[in-house]
Amino acid sequence: MPEAPEDLRLALVRLGLLDPEERPAFTPLTGGVSSDIWRVDLRSGPVCIKRALSRLKVAADWRAPVERNRYEAAWLRLAAEAVPGAVPALAGQDAETGSLVMAFLDPADHPVWKERLRAGEAVDLDAAVSSEVPLAALARLLELDVDAATEVKRFSRAALELFWGRPDLERQLALARIVGPYHAVLRSWAASSTGATRRVLEAHGEDAATAALFFLLVAGQETTSQFLTLLAHELIGSPGLLDAPAGAVVEEGLRLLPPLVSWRRVAAVDTAIGGAAVAAGESVLVWLAAAGADEGVAQCPAAMVPGQRGSRRHLAFGAGAHRCLGSQLARMEAEVVVAELAPLLRRCAVVSPPAGDENLSFRMPGPLVVAMR
Ligand code: HEM
Repeated sequence: MPEAPEDLRLALVRLGLLDPEERPAFTPLTGGVSSDIWRVDLRSGPVCIKRALSRLKVAADWRAPVERNRYEAAWLRLAAEAVPGAVPALAGQDAETGSLVMAFLDPADHPVWKERLRAGEAVDLDAAVSSEVPLAALARLLELDVDAATEVKRFSRAALELFWGRPDLERQLALARIVGPYHAVLRSWAASSTGATRRVLEAHGEDAATAALFFLLVAGQETTSQFLTLLAHELIGSPGLLDAPAGAVVEEGLRLLPPLVSWRRVAAVDTAIGGAAVAAGESVLVWLAAAGADEGVAQCPAAMVPGQRGSRRHLAFGAGAHRCLGSQLARMEAEVVVAELAPLLRRCAVVSPPAGDENLSFRMPGPLVVAMR
């Protein structure tokens, strides 16, 4: 058993949770790469102490500011106020060590989603998998702390509905109240950023770094999340597809189930599209979702046939100078998820399908609730 860290023991004393002479048992908890997490058995019961690391536990030299622990504590406080019981109760935050103390949730009473599935419960795969993976990958790339994942999702879904949905006036105001204040959060992340965001900040200033975060936190994860849910739904319905290599399955998914159905262009010169005249300056709504299923694109355009000829001839990632920057990352993430989930998906049945919100460009699937067959 590793030795109890003295500075964390003293943090507990400072927070009034421990008498100065008390030496409780510290048990390291595994699973995270951005923090040191211990279970501490106090006289009043177990708590969890979490210290943000300045250098992440990964092979590469990834660094992140430890002040994020203070923001996480503030977020836990706010979340507990907004939805009581939604997060573990916060017992305190110690600025000196960059650690916070929260209630320890016994895994016996708080099982993870795979155990819940095995126990016969229904689980929302959109929340358990699709919402988590792309955001975690992006956070690593951008060297952001992912502990505020729920907050990022709330912001990105609201942004998509506000800009591409059909909210009435009242709803527009409600969405703006979520998206607007988030700008300040992103600005603070940009100001204390490391890695790529820091380089943008140094080269182009705080506005550009904040804007890059704003854009990437939507484009870089919401798209892939939505795709994973749409694809998982399809694969549960047609488990035979899982016999094919995961990469080929993903490509057919992108061709027929792209999460972005349309995008816009402005004609730079007078032209004609499919016989219709388009003048320079006119807006064109490009129907990306239909392009992959057009006659002549693939051998069997309307059917999902992994590996078929023409499988990659779709517009899921757009085309031209602005073609999606993250297409290879998205493909890789989806391939890993399909390969990892394949054994589980074969044994699942859909309890409730993901209904999409009304939106001009994004499919916006909702919860995909599944249970073991
Ligand atoms: C399945 C997942 C994804 C889909 C379907 C998708 C789709 C798209 C589409 C249709 C465009 C517009 C392309 C055009 O105008 O021709 C786009 C742009 C973009 N995407 Fe993605 N995307 C995905 C994932 C990602 C990821 C993971 C990232 C970054 C980590 C990302 C970053 C971007 C960026 C930066 C642009 C703007 C490129 C520019 O305007 O030059 N996307 N994406």
